[in-house]
Amino acid sequence: MINKKPIGLFDSGIGGTSIWREVHTLMPNENTIYLADSKNAPYGLKSKDEIIALSCKNTEFLLENNCKIIVVACNTATTNAIKELRAKYDVPFIGIEPAIKPAALQSKTQTIGILATKGTLNSELFHKNVSNHPDVKIIEQIGHGLVQLIENGDMDSAEMEDLLKSYLNPMVEKNIDYLVLGCSHYPYLIPQIQKIIPPHIKIIDSGEAVAKQTQKILEQNHLLNHSNEKSSQIFYTNSEPEVLKTILGNRETVIYKNF
Ligand code: DGL
Repeated sequence: MINKKPIGLFDSGIGGTSIWREVHTLMPNENTIYLADSKNAPYGLKSKDEIIALSCKNTEFLLENNCKIIVVACNTATTNAIKELRAKYDVPFIGIEPAIKPAALQSKTQTIGILATKGTLNSELFHKNVSNHPDVKIIEQIGHGLVQLIENGDMDSAEMEDLLKSYLNPMVEKNIDYLVLGCSHYPYLIPQIQKIIPPHIKIIDSGEAVAKQTQKILEQNHLLNHSNEKSSQIFYTNSEPEVLKTILGNRETVIYKNF
């Protein structure tokens, strides 16, 4: 099967490129279009209605660009808007949600930590997932300010270190053995996080699972691209392209567009 239409991905900003990376590693033949709605970041502080409206706008942009599937590379948009997106548009959607389940099932201390945005932690979908694990203590922490610092390219700043310490140290004191990164921006903070938490605490995110699920759904719908041609990877941003370029290692095509 050769379906050359691109996979579309969107996020409130540059964080979802952590998901794009997993998708591209698993399916290097696939063409992709990534949309960074950085102008409207962070989504985590917006109302559900605002998140739905922005998610619709992003989806329409990707559909106008002929995408065959949409990966909502944002936990906040997934947990607040994926139901509405699936009802409104006739294309498969893949969402990303905090990996509570694998952490809860593997935890030996029966205590796990989750770092995510306010929008994700307050969502109905997240509460439903948490209620599936009544025997596990789940320490929730909003990552106030982290997305803004990442969007500004300030990942290695002293301010970032201070914020991370203030969020993570209380979880360590409560004896977590898993830390779930519930925001697609946060995998970029793993080196900084590892300097703060002890090495026995495992960090998990959902990127690889999302890529595998995308591949599965493409396969089921006969949408995979088995062509051997070099694939194209295009990134759109409605903000300063430099930070996005840097996070992509200056190897990809980044286009500014005022959407
Ligand atoms: N990257 C996003 C997420 O996975 C959204 C962060 C935000 O814009 O607040 O939740």
